[in-house]
Amino acid sequence: MALFGKKNANYISAKETKRISKENRKITSEIEKKRNRKNIPESEYITTMKNPENVVEFDNVHTYFFTDIGTVKAVDGVSFEIPQGKTVGVVGESGCGKSVTSLSLMQLVQRPQGQTVEGEIRFNTGDKAYNIVNTPSSIMQKLRGNELSMIFQEPMTALNPVFRIGEQVDEITMLHNPDMSKEQVKARTIEMLEMVGIANSEGVYKMYPHELSGGMRQRVCIAIGLACNPRLIIADEPTTALDVTIQAQILDLMRNLKDKINSSIMLITHDLGVIAEMADYVVVMYAGRVVEKGTASEIFNHPSHPYTIGLMRSKPVVGKKVDKLYSIPGKVPNPIDMPDYCYFRDRCELSCDKCQGSYPGVVKLSPTHEVSCYRYADRPEAGWLATVHPGEGGNAHE
Ligand SMILES: Nc1ncnc2c1ncn2[C@@H]1O[C@H](COP(=O)(O)OP(=O)(O)OP(=O)(O)O)[C@@H](O)[C@H]1O
Ligand SMILES: [Mg+2]
Repeated sequence: MALFGKKNANYISAKETKRISKENRKITSEIEKKRNRKNIPESEYITTMKNPENVVEFDNVHTYFFTDIGTVKAVDGVSFEIPQGKTVGVVGESGCGKSVTSLSLMQLVQRPQGQTVEGEIRFNTGDKAYNIVNTPSSIMQKLRGNELSMIFQEPMTALNPVFRIGEQVDEITMLHNPDMSKEQVKARTIEMLEMVGIANSEGVYKMYPHELSGGMRQRVCIAIGLACNPRLIIADEPTTALDVTIQAQILDLMRNLKDKINSSIMLITHDLGVIAEMADYVVVMYAGRVVEKGTASEIFNHPSHPYTIGLMRSKPVVGKKVDKLYSIPGKVPNPIDMPDYCYFRDRCELSCDKCQGSYPGVVKLSPTHEVSCYRYADRPEAGWLATVHPGEGGNAHE
């Protein structure tokens, strides 16, 4: 076959793979050894929030996968905050690192090959702030479920098919409230099922997951996720598997419950409609990095990064006739071999001479609106954190 014997840029010899995996083992076993120490002092993982109003602060987070063909920089320097009581939407195309960012926060990245190698993820429980990156697994177990909970994309796989719904919700309540009696646990489960809008709660308590519809199953998952009044709910594509009407109901439900228990939501999706309906703030990711972030109205009314502009153009608008829906040309660069210039440059229709430089820094367009793009770096002598007057940069594309 032509593949063999021919020098191919994507081809790695067995010898090379062996060398890489040996090197990887060295790196990952060192990190694991450090993590698995006994009696890690609090000083290594207790930290202070930059702003106590935030529940989470991602600060220059790098999560890599050390694979046999090279290092995948799935999350490569991500920084953003989740304020208390707010919903932050994370958007970006498939593979850009949205799930890995949230898994890093839960400390659920597939180990040992997946590791957060740099940066801090600060999580505020009210009385303490944890740096999740260094928090020992035993403490993480208490944070997960109690303070942090996750709702997944596919409710069927999140529920165990061989146990009744009641048993599955009971288990979570019991785990977090060991002092409750059996009757109290059941009453709490019924209450949770009713809270997520399941009318026949006694009946559903005795059912198996396959007896429920997709929307009902997702409601049960939300009930499990909210059983302990978490401070943060991470919802990773919570409505992708559902039809549009159920989707609207589930989003409504999440929004109401969030306000009821006063928590925050990190909402991951590639559906801009969902973001528009739910989010207070939006973070746009591309190839493992945040390319733009701001309030929802800034991102929707003044999208500034060419990638965000492309995303907005590729969304269908009711009542607007187009021959063909816009799609962003080209594809995401190979995550193992990222270029040392702007990752979006080769696909960008708005690139200019300045884009020949290294990866662009961050430009503040307003106190809440930031973008990484050379188009706004009109004052290079002032350095990358130069502040462009609000509106000036944001309107540049119009
Ligand atoms: N266990 C793993 N081993 C190696 N690479 C991985 C692993 N998990 C994820 N990745 C890589 O990390 C990158 C980011 O993946 P991630 O799942 O975060 O994408 P995503 O933005 O959530 O995409 P989607 O919208 O499809 O869910 C991808 O390039 C993916 O291939
Ligand atoms: Mg994902």
